[in-house]
Amino acid sequence: MRNVTKDNITDVFKSYMADDMPARTREIMSSLVQHLHDFARETNLTHDEWRQGIAFLEGCAAIESEDRHEFVLASDVLGVSSLVDMLHSSDDATSSSVLGPFHVSGAPPLAVGGDMKRDFGGPVLLAQGVIRDTEGNPIAGAEIDIWQTAPNGLYASQDDAQDIFSFHGLMTVGNDGRYAFTTVKPVEYTVPSDGPVGDILRACGRHPWRPSHLHYIVKAPGFRTLVTEVFPEDDPYLDQDTVFGVRDDLVMKYEEKPASSFPDGMALSGKVTAPYLAVDFDVILAQDN
Ligand code: BEZ
Ligand code: FE
Repeated sequence: MRNVTKDNITDVFKSYMADDMPARTREIMSSLVQHLHDFARETNLTHDEWRQGIAFLEGCAAIESEDRHEFVLASDVLGVSSLVDMLHSSDDATSSSVLGPFHVSGAPPLAVGGDMKRDFGGPVLLAQGVIRDTEGNPIAGAEIDIWQTAPNGLYASQDDAQDIFSFHGLMTVGNDGRYAFTTVKPVEYTVPSDGPVGDILRACGRHPWRPSHLHYIVKAPGFRTLVTEVFPEDDPYLDQDTVFGVRDDLVMKYEEKPASSFPDGMALSGKVTAPYLAVDFDVILAQDN
């Protein structure tokens, strides 16, 4: 096409695609370019503004490293990670939520009833529940990969003072599907905001805070792997999570209980002398089709 105009350029783009290209790639590229062109037309985008957009992408690439995933963070704060999650989560299973960049693979095994708190200060949190299928049956042998921040608001991978698997554990449940562990109550924290994503947050008048949460990846043969989080119902950032990860069914009561009610069969049984917090959170996995 020689006579490309601002009105026909989108159709011209589509006409340049090969007839024999994969159908799904055609669908995605056509839609992406349609929306990009419409965005430029609707906002009457200027050269300076588009250059700022390109500079944002270049800034993300420049800061990207093994420990810093700025493009993923951009996808998180723009709500795209959560939207893609919700498009593919199963209605009758526990909601999924963002993975985030701080999970460390290869966590050491944590026995059912085990402790992740170790010598860290703060009240004990007892987290427990049952991994179930959508019919309510316990899933024997399910595996939960657990991770969270230390009381200083940092994940082990961000903090040289912690060992790399601090507040990480891999638990395999028994025939009753029950998991239980002790830890400290996670704290709210900020996502990294010293790079281009921080510039976007500031430009939009947004803060970088996430409500406190425990992260789980739950796996079992024959079931869809679930990446999720559990939040306490009294967290001040629940209604303004900067990465849009909160779902109704992931918000739980962290109940304060007297030390005398601490259960037997836990690594800390007999050692809890002050009131502790307890959260019950059952996880429902969808069948893998
Ligand atoms: C997190 O929960 O660890 C997280 C999620 C998205 C972006 C940054 C952190
Ligand atoms: Fe997190």
